[in-house]
Amino acid sequence: MEINLNVNGEIRDLVAEPDALLIDTLRETLGLTGSKKGCATGDCGACTVLLDGRPVTSCLVLTATAQDKEIVTIEGLAGESGLHPVQQGFVDFGAAQCGYCTPGMIMMSTALLTEEAHPTEDQIRDGLSGNLCRCTGYGSIISAVNTAALMMAEDEQ
Ligand code: FES
Ligand code: FES
Repeated sequence: MEINLNVNGEIRDLVAEPDALLIDTLRETLGLTGSKKGCATGDCGACTVLLDGRPVTSCLVLTATAQDKEIVTIEGLAGESGLHPVQQGFVDFGAAQCGYCTPGMIMMSTALLTEEAHPTEDQIRDGLSGNLCRCTGYGSIISAVNTAALMMAEDEQ
């Protein structure tokens, strides 16, 4: 079937099977390989993208249902002025080890900070509880998100 997807602010025309999964379409059809496919069962969070601003595990989303929605992937997060604060926080704290979970962690963290601009550590941990890091770098990930929240608060002043 013919589908139009709005990905990172660009309309992409493509052909996909009715049962095509969004993670596969992003990676294999559109070449956006930043989002990772870990479990493919909705359990690891590596495939997290934003759909109309809300975080979704794209391994559980049919491509066809993402039509007419705004999709943001890790490739679309940085702005003209540079990295998104969450990305910068991950760089500053060395919060990526093998990096496999990192795009999903960053997208989920971005959604979290949109919902709650001043999260406590417990709220960050809770918000990221569906994103698994096999390298177990949770301490630096929490610090990165916390610092991003402070940076974003400063930018607003
Ligand atoms: S690949 Fe989607 S949640 Fe693991
Ligand atoms: S950095 Fe390796 S899985 Fe998280």
